[in-house]
Amino acid sequence: MSFTLPELPYAYDALQPYMSRETLEFHHDKHHAAYVNTGNNLLKGTEFEGKSVEEVVKGSYGKNQALFNNAGQHYNHIHFWKWMKPNGGGAIPGKLEQQIASDLGGVDKFKEDFIQAGVGQFGSGWAWLAVKDGKLAIMKTPNGENPLVHGAQPILGVDVWEHSYYIDYRNRRPDYLKAFLENLVNWEHVEEMYEAAGK
Ligand SMILES: [Fe+2]
Repeated sequence: MSFTLPELPYAYDALQPYMSRETLEFHHDKHHAAYVNTGNNLLKGTEFEGKSVEEVVKGSYGKNQALFNNAGQHYNHIHFWKWMKPNGGGAIPGKLEQQIASDLGGVDKFKEDFIQAGVGQFGSGWAWLAVKDGKLAIMKTPNGENPLVHGAQPILGVDVWEHSYYIDYRNRRPDYLKAFLENLVNWEHVEEMYEAAGK
């Protein structure tokens, strides 16, 4: 099995004005496609050929940096597209909201800390909501890393590489993160991943 670029689950202009057609065209068709193509070239002849994306990510971490970078970014972007939807944001589904209240001090505190994780990630990387040791945790990682290689299961992540926001927000990363939470997150998908992480 090799890596395959998934289609976006919505039209390129469906997330406007919070994420433009131009951003999605570059981000999906150029950046994600490059991780898939480079990853496939690097997979050839390695012990990871035929493994799932998750297995390649975990297996290559600390062993094959170039492959890990591309496999990690492939995994991260597969989910990033699904963590957004048109008319996203809004209320967090009840069970997940209760867990956020008990593990992270409530929805407002979660949003504040999640944005701070994204703002505080120096340079390129990601901010995450993940399940670790049965509890929700906010994490941040550099470059293509993700919670999978830190003993946690990501259930929501936001790309803070400049390619994700510079066309629409220029250097205003905090505004991008706020718009992501308030107008783009597909909470039903986050809830599905939360339910799956508990099994
Ligand atoms: Fe990206």
